[in-house]
Amino acid sequence: MALTHNSEKYDPKNPALKWFNDRLPLLSFGKEHFVDFPTPKNLNYWWTFGMILALCLGVQIVTGIILAMHFTPHVDLAFNSVEHIRRDVNWGRIIQGTHAVGASMFFFAVYVHIFRGLFYGSYKAPREVLWMLGVIIFLLMMATAFMGYVLPWGQMSFWAATVITNIFAAIPLVGEPILQWLRGGFAVDNATLNRFFSLHYLLPFVIAAVVMLHIWALHIPGNGNPTGVEPKDSHDTVPFTPYATIKDLFAVSVFLIPFAWFVFFAPDILGHPDNYIMANSQVTPPHIVPEWYFLPFYAILRAIDFNILFIDSKLGGVIFFAGSILILFFLPWLDVSKVRSGSFRPMFRIFFWVFVLDFLLLMYLGAQPAEGIYVTLAKVATAYYFLHFLVILPVVSRIETPKPLPTSISEAVLAKPA
Ligand code: HEM
Repeated sequence: MALTHNSEKYDPKNPALKWFNDRLPLLSFGKEHFVDFPTPKNLNYWWTFGMILALCLGVQIVTGIILAMHFTPHVDLAFNSVEHIRRDVNWGRIIQGTHAVGASMFFFAVYVHIFRGLFYGSYKAPREVLWMLGVIIFLLMMATAFMGYVLPWGQMSFWAATVITNIFAAIPLVGEPILQWLRGGFAVDNATLNRFFSLHYLLPFVIAAVVMLHIWALHIPGNGNPTGVEPKDSHDTVPFTPYATIKDLFAVSVFLIPFAWFVFFAPDILGHPDNYIMANSQVTPPHIVPEWYFLPFYAILRAIDFNILFIDSKLGGVIFFAGSILILFFLPWLDVSKVRSGSFRPMFRIFFWVFVLDFLLLMYLGAQPAEGIYVTLAKVATAYYFLHFLVILPVVSRIETPKPLPTSISEAVLAKPA
């Protein structure tokens, strides 16, 4: 980005640091990207969630590594090894609680981050690759969380693993071999637990690598901002440190308050009671429900309970389930509006909020039994989900008249009435 604030090259005074930096310019790199980096001066608190997410990833990795020291990936021992961590291991209750609650906090933050992007048009040019890397991160997060949930080997772990791996059997021709390959056998068993443990340990590091690409792709065009108008000169920006770092740190501290509340006062409240019963392949729980953050997509999967032409209902469910996330990759080309920010798009913003409600409705429906009115509502909400991306956004972005944009960020900030 050309709008450097303090473009002078970093030249450490300390001879040892200078020696090091001349050979590997890590310090110059850090100064350029995390100190001097020009940041729009009008970023609001929705822009602090990137840093909050980085914290969540760090917390999950650190607590996860400690848990792995005491966890035993064997069907006869896994459940009790988690109990052992909670009861006997020093600080184990807090570490296990932080990891379990941390997964929910991570997803809460990622949903805020995604919906921020959806409202402010962060996916639009020139940030399409940044957005698509985000969608890849989201998919990796889903895979990681799903496999992590299987590890304590409770009733919900086992049955969620059975139901979700079963989805793959719907794929024509190769479905059955894929299913066996995923499970490591004909049923969810010890081999499944072992490979899920291995992958659950590996994937967060893959996520960390994709996050680095995500930040790289962010630092090419620089941050977007609530007006959607790109910064024009150095009056529109401030250096990342201290302005953005302090604001991010403040937001992280506030975020840690509910996080700590859950860990210390209600560490199990977000989990399903059935998962405190050891896995039993002979007893199916009355309602198999995923964790709250998967519910909207689970509702979409279940909503397709009818055949569509030659596609049977099971495969149809899988196609809609996968499509509901994959469609995000195409978003930059579905919404063709030249105006980025929803603040200046009167029609778009109404549909944005309807979409938020639709998503929350799907979340509610995913937790309800698939019967009666819930089934009908899930179908309507699923249809609306796809309608939003495939019809509403393309049409609205072509027909709406946006509000006049400020000529610059400074104008937008300074023109606010006293
Ligand atoms: C581990 C998960 C993630 C981390 C650590 C992360 C980190 C960040 C950071 C630090 C920023 C800059 C600050 C900010 O705008 O909040 C950012 C921006 C962005 N992220 Fe993420 N992100 C993650 C997941 C995602 C996902 C899942 C998506 C979308 C599907 C996404 C899309 C974006 C976009 C479009 C921007 C640019 C926003 C703008 O400047 O207008 N990110 N991310």
